[in-house]
This record gives sequence, structure tokens and C-alpha cells, in this order.
Amino acid sequence: MADIPVFKPLIGPDEIAAAVQSLEMGWLGMGSYVAEFEQHVASVINAPDRHVAAVSTGTAALHIALLVAGVGPGDEVIVSAFNCSADYQAISWVGADIVFCDCDDDTLELDIVKAESLVSENTKAIIIMDYDCIISDYDQVEIFANKHNLRVIHDACHSFGSSWNGKMIGSYSDICVFSFDPVKTITCLDGGGVVVRSAEELKYVHELRLLGMQQPADVMYQNKRAWTFDVERVGFRYHMLNLHAAIGVAQIKKLKDIRSSRQNASKHYSDRLRAVPQVRTPNASFEEVNPFLYYIRVAKDDRDELRDYLKERSIDTGIHWQPGHWFSLWKDCRKCDLSVTDTVGDEILSLPLHSMMEMETVNRVCDAVAEFFSNGKS
Ligand SMILES: Cc1ncc(COP(=O)(O)O)c(C=O)c1O
Repeated sequence: MADIPVFKPLIGPDEIAAAVQSLEMGWLGMGSYVAEFEQHVASVINAPDRHVAAVSTGTAALHIALLVAGVGPGDEVIVSAFNCSADYQAISWVGADIVFCDCDDDTLELDIVKAESLVSENTKAIIIMDYDCIISDYDQVEIFANKHNLRVIHDACHSFGSSWNGKMIGSYSDICVFSFDPVKTITCLDGGGVVVRSAEELKYVHELRLLGMQQPADVMYQNKRAWTFDVERVGFRYHMLNLHAAIGVAQIKKLKDIRSSRQNASKHYSDRLRAVPQVRTPNASFEEVNPFLYYIRVAKDDRDELRDYLKERSIDTGIHWQPGHWFSLWKDCRKCDLSVTDTVGDEILSLPLHSMMEMETVNRVCDAVAEFFSNGKS
């Protein structure tokens, strides 16, 4: 029986042709393909008042976003303990302190009510994150941020191409961050995006992504470089390469089909698995989203056994994620009651989800999950 991986990249002739063309162009660094990719991202998010910068990874985008938000040593950043390690590392890179908030049991988003108890005079920013098919309630977040005078970093690494209440992700938040890494719905091999509100912030992002060099992006976008420029600040080597952008352009042109295929597979999973009483499916209609994962929750005592059972049937699964405060490095960070996150960390399980996934494959996974529980589990 063929293996079913948890992630599967959609790399076909278009991506390979784009990669070859970009290599043959003879300009391997940041160049014209990066400009083209940024234009495609801007047109997807559909926000003429926002500015998009492509960077090397989603983690680099988070690092840059925190710097744009003015977060530095001595500041605190409130973040869900149910998040990706990248967010915690980026907070550490700017010298700030991580403050862990619990997540909501239903949506798995940061619990904004519990966040109230975590605000201190050092709180500078809050990171919210759209987990898979559920988008953060930005209205609530905005009220909270305005009340406490905080910048908001919207980690939309899972939700590129999704919308919330009819508004595209990236079009409404304070600073928004995307990932185009190897397993994301749109991949550049590796890549990220930062969306900011003003030309001044964009200029800052451009300097941060390329060694602080005050080199106009427009020059590089013509596959040229200025040989004289000033450097006024510390910067990083976070720019996107032409090869990566070229693959991203080929991918993004398929966004509509990618999104609808992932929606259909996710809906089918939920329709089938809702009939299995031991399985908790996402509370989502999938109508507005471009789902990155398909997750379920099962009792702690069943989860690892179910993983093994599926593995024996050549079905791979994932755990997104182990909570942040479970890691040695972050166990002592300031936190509120994290009981929901602890439970979610024990129960969460990602099932295989691919672009253009065959329903037959989804059915094979659903059959195996149903079979596991009908064999007397829980
Ligand atoms: C929620 C979230 N934030 C940030 C990242 C980091 O993105 P990247 O892998 O592009 O560095 C990821 C990657 O999986 C993620 O899932």
C-alpha cells in the first residue's frame, strides 16, 4: 500500500520550468522574480494600503515584525503557549521576554480573556496566530491591543490565501507575517512575507532584510545593485532569492485550485470523522480558508496508539505542536493558567493533507481512524 505522508509538496512542470528559467537568468540573488512574487502576494491580500516584503523564511518575517513593532530588551510579548517554536525564538532574538497565554478550547486561538491577566507595564506586543482552518477574531484582538497600547503581530503562516469575514488575511492586521516554507500551501522552497502599513515601515523592513543596506529595492528588482549606499542600522541576511520567488510565482498562480482542493479534503475529513464519537473535529466550515493542516483531537491515552496504528498502515501523522512551556528553554517563562494548552498538547494530531489530494486517500485515512476506534478503543 502506498505511503501517505502528512505533507506532500505540489511541485510539477510549472515549478520546475520556473526554477530553470530563474537559474538561466543569471541573477541568483534578490531580483526581478522577487518583485513579481511580492506583486502576486499583494494582489492576493488585496489591500492597496498595505506594503509587502518577501523575506527568506516565516521565522525571519517574525523577527523583522517584532523589530518593526519596536520590541526590544526588557519588553514582554504575550503569545499563546500553543504556537510554533519559531515565534518564541523570534521573541528571544530581539531580547524580549516571552509571556505565555492559554489557548481557547474550541478555536485553539490565543485566549484573549486570559491575556488580560498577563498585561504588565513591560508588555509591548501580542502575537496572534491563525491555527490551520480557524482564523483569529481580530475584532477582539484590536480592542485588547488598543486598550493596552500594544502592537499586534499577526502570525498568518498557516492562513495565506484565507479570508476572515470577507477580508483577505494580510489586509487588516497591524503587522502580518506569512510563511512559504517547504510544507506550506504555497511554497517558495523557503520563504516568508511581512505586510506593513506604511512606506516608512516598508523601508525599515527592506533595510532589516538585507544587512541594513540602504539600497533601493527597485534597483535590485531590475537584477542590478547599487554599489554605494549607507548603513545606519543592524540588519540581517533575510532577503528572498530569485529561485525561491520564481517557484513561489508558479505556485501562487494555482492558489485557487490549491485552496479549493484543500477545502474539499478538509470538509470530507470532517464529514466522515464527525461520525466517530472518540474524534473531535475542528469547529470550522472551511468556507473562507486555505487549510494548511487537518487536525483532530483524541483522548491523550489513545493518541500515540492511534499514531502507531496509522503508521502500520503507511499513514503518517504529525503533532502540531508540543506547547511552548513544555520545552526546557521556555519552561520558566511568565504564564497564566495553561490547562487548556496542556490538554490540547496531549490530544492534537495532524492527519495527512495535501494540495490536490484524492478523496480515495482521505477515505483511506478515515477508514483507518474509524477502524482503530471500532476495535474497542475508548
Ligand atoms: C505558526 C507558524 N509560525 C511561524 C512559522 C515559521 O515559518 P518558517 O518555517 O517559514 O520559518 C511556522 C512554520 O511552520 C508556523 O507554523
